[in-house]
Amino acid sequence: MKITYLGHASLAIEINGKNLIVDPFITANEKAKNIDINSLKADYILLTHAHQDHILDVEAIAKRTKAKVISNFEIVNYFGKLGIDGHPMNHGGSWNFDFGRLTLTNAIHTSSFPDGTYGGNPAGFLLETKEGNIYISGDTALTMDMKLIPLQCKLDIAVLPIGDNFTMGIDSAIIASDFVACNKILGYHYDTFGYIEIDQKEAISKFNKKNKDLILLEIGKSISI
Ligand code: NI
Ligand code: MN
Repeated sequence: MKITYLGHASLAIEINGKNLIVDPFITANEKAKNIDINSLKADYILLTHAHQDHILDVEAIAKRTKAKVISNFEIVNYFGKLGIDGHPMNHGGSWNFDFGRLTLTNAIHTSSFPDGTYGGNPAGFLLETKEGNIYISGDTALTMDMKLIPLQCKLDIAVLPIGDNFTMGIDSAIIASDFVACNKILGYHYDTFGYIEIDQKEAISKFNKKNKDLILLEIGKSISI
């Protein structure tokens, strides 16, 4: 499994020969200007919720690649009306896709589209695959529901927001990593704009003090699991 950071909360994940894009918000992110959305491969686009900073580039990527949107029922319906194919799910439900088993997990956040359309409830993703298990929390507060994750599977990596203000911050993310029983954390949803700027060195050292590894990837860089 290869995970590439596309900036903000956007990821490209290669698993079992399939290409997944998570929450694409690239063309309006000045920090991600080196990422060309027209060169991204996508078989599926996974969306945690309907906020602009998670769905901005869905239409362009889906229409070019014919990728299928996987998200909650309301978000899949919304993109369905734009002619984009999708697979609707909801919280607690799992489905065996060709890249692995995907479960929609709870997230504490909000989820309306930029035009005010109801976007269902926000979610995270638990992905269990032959190449490893990954939890992508989505935008969320620290929540007791995270304690359910290790009952379901052993994680290889957890992707957690660390930017604070709109989501968990660093200290909550450290507790979350205990809740999900995973000491390897990929941080996201930080430094894109003023409200979520962090001190990266301090964040890494706070995780280190708890014997945890906080990975902060440069935009466009990847890690392999
Ligand atoms: Ni959000
Ligand atoms: Mn967000």
